[in-house]
Amino acid sequence: MTTVRLEKVSKTIGATPVVRELDLVVGDGEFVTLVGPSGCGKTTTLRMIAGLEEVTSGRLYIGDRLANDVPSKDRGIAMVFQSYALFPHMTTAQNIAFGLKIRKVPGDVVARKVSWVLSLLNLKGLENRRPRDLSGGQRQRVALARAMVVDPEVLLLDEPLSNLDAKLRIKMRAELKRIHRQLKTTILYVTHDQVEAMSLSERIAVMREGRLAQVGTPLDIYRKPTDLFVAGFVGSPTMNFFDGTIEQKEGKATIATRAFELALPEPVWQRCKTHKGKTVILGIRPEHIYRRGSSRIKEVSGNTVKAVVTVVEPLGDRVIVEVERSDVRFTLVLPEEARMVPEMAVTAVFDMEHCHLFDRASGKRIAP
Ligand SMILES: Nc1ncnc2c1ncn2[C@@H]1O[C@H](COP(=O)(O)OP(=O)(O)O)[C@@H](O)[C@H]1O
Ligand SMILES: [Mg+2]
Repeated sequence: MTTVRLEKVSKTIGATPVVRELDLVVGDGEFVTLVGPSGCGKTTTLRMIAGLEEVTSGRLYIGDRLANDVPSKDRGIAMVFQSYALFPHMTTAQNIAFGLKIRKVPGDVVARKVSWVLSLLNLKGLENRRPRDLSGGQRQRVALARAMVVDPEVLLLDEPLSNLDAKLRIKMRAELKRIHRQLKTTILYVTHDQVEAMSLSERIAVMREGRLAQVGTPLDIYRKPTDLFVAGFVGSPTMNFFDGTIEQKEGKATIATRAFELALPEPVWQRCKTHKGKTVILGIRPEHIYRRGSSRIKEVSGNTVKAVVTVVEPLGDRVIVEVERSDVRFTLVLPEEARMVPEMAVTAVFDMEHCHLFDRASGKRIAP
């Protein structure tokens, strides 16, 4: 176990900046997820940490040691690649033992460790199969076993679950959490899937175009996204966004969109006073909009919007409902009993305590 610290780490490939001044700390034994859309620089970041790619500028520390120029094999790091990169001609056991053999670990120790990791990852009985005779999930576990068997100080995982079907992915998510709890290895995990990031890790680092957009616990990021990008990236279904103008009439603060007006709670108004008369972006998550009559929040003056249902997506326990008022559309999530159908009229109740305001030009969070 150790820490990984990136200080203003950048990577330029040719003339293209791929990673830009990245500051990130992964604590001893911590599980951090780097998440962001495809092409934002996640794999490049992992490859720099693993020593497979040179750092163009900035400092990379592993433990207390400046590691920029430390050879890959001396970094105490194991990486699992998106493609698994198993040796096709080797069996499960041989694939797993490979890293130990090249480190000249004695045979009896190799046997003991391979046996240990086979149990840990539920691979017993598959020792003598070759990769082509394993399922996707089994191959993925062999790749993980191969990385874990060398007792790395740091484990780097690059979208290790992306080739699995949805059900297996959820199962492996829980497995990974269990393994981490058992071993307490420092893990930096990469995914483009925000749901996976939210559910797996202690902290999330959201990347966009080579830069770090926000770092925090899943809940921090869900509750206080720092800008429009993070707000839209995290959460499913996606947050609703409306252009709106902040106004103050007869002592009441409101935000007026093209189709409706909503009252701003006092703490929000205090933070956005400076934007009075200006157009901002109001964000509110689908799960924070209710239907009239549900007991979740009180209906008060200025938190309801009459709308018409346009699309209904049943999920079993819940339904995602898209509604429309004067060409402005938004989404809400309702319990299945709501029995919504297109064309139905609904009164949506906005929980404005959970609203977010963003600056229109910069996209930065204004309030609350
Ligand atoms: N060898 C390379 N030459 C030029 N561009 C590259 C090279 N490797 C990666 N890139 C570019 O760097 C960006 C980040 O890539 P990558 O780190 O693989 O992103 P991610 O893993 O987040 O999808 C992408 O736009 C990609 O096209
Ligand atoms: Mg990648």
